Amino acid sequence: MYIRIIYEESNMNLHTLAAVSDPQAGATDLLGRYLSVRRRTEALVAPLSAEDMVVQAMADASPAKWHLAHTAWFFETFLLQNHLDGYRPFDDSFGYLFNSYYEGLGARQPRPQRGLLTRPDSGRVLAYRRHVDQAMRELLQGKVSGAVEQLVLLGLAHEEQHQELLLMDVLYLFSQSPLRPAYDARWPQAAPGRRGRFLRVDARLAEQGHAGAGFAFDHESPRHPVWLQGYDISDRLVTNGEWLDFMAAGGYTRAALWLTDGWDQLRQEGWQAPLYWQRDADGWSRMTLAGLVPLDPAAPLLHVSYYEAAAYALWAGARLPTEAEWETAAAAGLLEQVDGVAWQWTASAYAAYPGFRAATGAVGEYNGKFMANQMVLRGGASVTPDGHSRLSYRNFYRPGQRWMVSGLRLARDRDDAHGGDLGGLGGAAGPRGAGGAEGAAAATAAPAADSASRRAFAADVIAGLSARQKSLSPKYFYDAIGSALFEAICLTPEYYPTRTETALLREVAADIGAGIADGAVLVEFGSGASDKTRLLLDAAPQIAAYVPIDISVDALDQAAARLARHYPALQVAPLAGDFTAELSLPEPVRPRPKVGFFPGSTIGNFTPPQAVAFLRSVRRLLGEDATLIVGADVVKDEATLVAAYDDAAGVTAGFNKNLLTRINRELGGDFDLDAFAHEARWNAALQRMEMHLVSRHDQIVNAAGHAFAFKAGESLHSENSHKFTAASFAALAAQAGWHVRQAWTSAAPQFAVYLLTPQDGAAA
Ligand code: SAH
Ligand code: AVI
Repeated sequence: MYIRIIYEESNMNLHTLAAVSDPQAGATDLLGRYLSVRRRTEALVAPLSAEDMVVQAMADASPAKWHLAHTAWFFETFLLQNHLDGYRPFDDSFGYLFNSYYEGLGARQPRPQRGLLTRPDSGRVLAYRRHVDQAMRELLQGKVSGAVEQLVLLGLAHEEQHQELLLMDVLYLFSQSPLRPAYDARWPQAAPGRRGRFLRVDARLAEQGHAGAGFAFDHESPRHPVWLQGYDISDRLVTNGEWLDFMAAGGYTRAALWLTDGWDQLRQEGWQAPLYWQRDADGWSRMTLAGLVPLDPAAPLLHVSYYEAAAYALWAGARLPTEAEWETAAAAGLLEQVDGVAWQWTASAYAAYPGFRAATGAVGEYNGKFMANQMVLRGGASVTPDGHSRLSYRNFYRPGQRWMVSGLRLARDRDDAHGGDLGGLGGAAGPRGAGGAEGAAAATAAPAADSASRRAFAADVIAGLSARQKSLSPKYFYDAIGSALFEAICLTPEYYPTRTETALLREVAADIGAGIADGAVLVEFGSGASDKTRLLLDAAPQIAAYVPIDISVDALDQAAARLARHYPALQVAPLAGDFTAELSLPEPVRPRPKVGFFPGSTIGNFTPPQAVAFLRSVRRLLGEDATLIVGADVVKDEATLVAAYDDAAGVTAGFNKNLLTRINRELGGDFDLDAFAHEARWNAALQRMEMHLVSRHDQIVNAAGHAFAFKAGESLHSENSHKFTAASFAALAAQAGWHVRQAWTSAAPQFAVYLLTPQDGAAA
């Protein structure tokens, strides 16, 4: 059969079939496009038998044969009958059979009874399509007016919508078969990946809707301004695994989470899981166009209704984004999984944009008359033809429908929803999830930086970049990506400190552990991945509680969860924040004996006066009976040091430049990363390694609402890493009221670990 030949000869993934071109095409681009879209529809039904094509599995779905005929009817009715002289309809009865919903065009076969149309058979429907195609060739080979072109584009967009519907309807049909047949065993599954993270968008006057010359449906216009309160939006879709958590928490049994109409539908239809999920002895699986497949928890969730999406969002302490929020974030490049995975429910009811006017005549019934009782979905799905969707595209369905490929991403209000003195998007600029950080930054949705810390960051950037020697605190390296990059630095051959300190701690952990009191709390400053911590916890099982403190929420959450899993008896109480701020320990651990832990030579990142102030504050926090274990790098030859901060693979350079990426993202900066060079310098006078970002030429950079001039060769000083001798370290500790009770130093490249106790009589 003709259509089967096309499908088999193409030997392509169905997604690429839109590109199949007709050998006879080419008279005009429009005709070429027309023929290619039409061919794809026919290729899509190639895997179906004649029986498959007739059945209507539910009222919302249509038989494949009906889709084939209706899409031909659309061109016949809106183009050929009005614009091709002498056109004769193929069959006068088809107007009744294949009109979908156009009241202006008269009576029609009731929608739920489309499956009763065993006649015309599929052969005659294909003949109908050929008849229409032949006439369309005639129409499009001649000169085409702008109005006709617009109608053809509408017809093609319409046919592409039916291509998607056809796949949705076949899936629903096959899901009803006990055989669970595959439509195409090669049909690709949505790729698994990390869970979403919230990104911030500041309050702003945005614009929503279609702009420009390309085709768009009428309801995407007029483009108009919309005021957005500040909000957070997840960069990825909710996953199956997250949905399983919702189900385990009683998501489908707690009425309080549901809109009342949704709750009614849930009870009437017995919803206990998304559509197409089924559970057997082997666990959950889901019906797909490739047949039944095991449920992948890391893959995006599909086939939920608006009611389910809204219940989930409520349970997750979030909400769905509005259309305008979605469009603004997507246009700014903040979102992943925008249009290739699933249509995404929004919180917006489907309604007219201000100034919207439907076209006159029957074609005006296309969208406008559905503007009640439907919700908007944005994006695009795996079943959406390539190039069909746009950022302004408004899909819409009733809130209880779920046979579409529909998923969700979360949004939430910001506490400072009105606020933002900086304008600009939180995450508008710079690449996201670069390099190896993508995986490491995974895990749970982490809160976007709160407004107070963003304001502090902005103030530090403004002050630091306005100074004669531009500088910034190294604490800003550690966003999620920075933390992951630091871990990658530790794996480079040149960066010896982590490896050397870990080996040393392994050797001396038993000695240290022997001195730790029963029931002690271990308080770690800048805990990062908490890897070294495990050496102490293993050597001192009498440690009852652990308080990791870190400014990197992502690193902290992951490390705390990992430790809690490995040490079930350990009380883990993470503290997210700046360890130089006034700290207080969580109430329950306060009475315990205290051991401080400050490894990694992070102390070297302070200037000496800062280090003294910090060590004093630690003494106040931990009290007079505390012990403090500090890891500090040792002064050594320049070559070893410089190599450690300028590794051959460029990981440290990436870590340094990530500071600029972060400024771009969080403070609306426009740093060009290629216009700056990473530089590692040994400052012999001050016994420290320095990292700089050196401007390659004269330039002006904007960030945090300010402009900063860089001369060629001028640097932004981004980090100090002081190195110590035993004497210089002891002197520093003494200034802060600590006494070096014991010290261990590794073989070269040397690194030292010090055990400190409070000096008698020294004031904290
Ligand atoms: N202790 C780990 C990690 C060292 S990296 C190790 O030895 O391998 C430095 C860590 O300190 C990072 O996790 C960073 O997020 C954290 N950090 C840096 N400045 C900080 C600050 N001002 N307050 C809290 N944490 C900070
Ligand atoms: C965390 N800190 C001690 C590291 C250091 O060595 O100063 C951070 C770092 N900077 C470049 N490489 C690693």
